[in-house]
Amino acid sequence: MKYLSDSAKRTREIAAELVKNFKNGTTVCLDGEMGAGKTVFVQGCMEALGYDGRVTSPTFALCNEYTVGDKTILHYDLCRITDKDDLYSVGFYDSEADLIFIEWAQNECDGFENTVKINISYGKNENERVIEINE
Ligand SMILES: Nc1ncnc2c1ncn2[C@@H]1O[C@H](COP(=O)(O)OP(=O)(O)OP(=O)(O)O)[C@@H](O)[C@H]1O
Ligand SMILES: [Mg+2]
Repeated sequence: MKYLSDSAKRTREIAAELVKNFKNGTTVCLDGEMGAGKTVFVQGCMEALGYDGRVTSPTFALCNEYTVGDKTILHYDLCRITDKDDLYSVGFYDSEADLIFIEWAQNECDGFENTVKINISYGKNENERVIEINE
């Protein structure tokens, strides 16, 4: 499936629609250039799930953990990871949660079951994005 978004708001809306269909235990693998809108997408999902806290790229923390009701959601950003040992040492490959978001997932998603792959690319103008989803 392919969606065209013309604003960050629209990307949040598309994400909010899509997150409804993600089964419990899904790992959402997000790829796309810097500033494409991966974090905006996660924000839209979290908002739709009823989370009212701040959702930011966990670039330095590597992982953010959010709790909504009885659900635990993990949000990774692998952008700065150069060494897989770092991922092992933080328990990345054993991650268990109701939902897992991974920014800059690339091929690190391969070990996860129930993945949804999202690629966001720049469109024809500043605010246009193409959101592709593969399950
Ligand atoms: N259609 C759009 N969809 C999403 N974001 C958009 C859109 N148009 C403009 N933007 C802007 O692009 C930026 C996307 O930033 P965001 O942090 O989500 O990117 P990212 O892919 O997570 O980058 P990084 O790789 O640095 O984590 C925001 O400033 C947002 O307002
Ligand atoms: Mg980001």
